Amino acid sequence: MNADDINQPPITPQQYEVLHGGGAEAAEITRQRLSRRHFLRRSMLAVWGLSATAAVAGALDMLYPNLAGQFGAVLNVGKKSKMPAAIPTKFKLGQAGVFYFQNAKTYMIHMAKDTHFLLSGTNLTDQLVSETVLKDSDGSYWIAVYQRCVHLGCTVPFRDDCDSFKCPCHGSHYNVDGEYLDGPAPRSLDRFIFTFSGEDVMVNTGVLNQKVPHPETGTRLIAVPGVPCSAA
Ligand code: FES
Repeated sequence: MNADDINQPPITPQQYEVLHGGGAEAAEITRQRLSRRHFLRRSMLAVWGLSATAAVAGALDMLYPNLAGQFGAVLNVGKKSKMPAAIPTKFKLGQAGVFYFQNAKTYMIHMAKDTHFLLSGTNLTDQLVSETVLKDSDGSYWIAVYQRCVHLGCTVPFRDDCDSFKCPCHGSHYNVDGEYLDGPAPRSLDRFIFTFSGEDVMVNTGVLNQKVPHPETGTRLIAVPGVPCSAA
């Protein structure tokens, strides 16, 4: 007995007789049984096909989750005009030079075109590129700084009182442009890649520059702030 036989209802003694006696009735009964067998096979194949498709779709979803609008995707953090530039000593969180976007976990830094850099010429140009600083058409400078402390991952607040970022966990201290100042952090703050789309600032929160080392004479962009941070 094969699997098909198990799934078929038993035939009546009358049908058995007809089948073994030949004739039109026998042909009809045989045709009906073959049709049922084909139907069952096709149904099983269809179910198997649907299951396989669902499994592949699930695997693709895990490998390539839809991050649209979420951290990890390209996020529009707002209009340039809502983020006025300032020179570093005049930064004020949310008002001038430094703006926080929680959904992007990003500080947008906007330095005025008359910002004083410690470098000049090609040294300045090269350092701006390596620190992912974008020069805008109006001469101002932009950076998208990731909020995460590169020591052990605490969120680093910007401190208006000392023109810098100071980590509350172990004291790592970073300049207004995210460059390392002091503390246990192994490098400067990381920066996201970003672009402008017309007036909109688009931050790619899936792509980081994590290679900005401690600055030295010859690589530091901005002077160390003159005001120490007060005790938090
Ligand atoms: S996590 Fe920021 S200093 Fe340790």
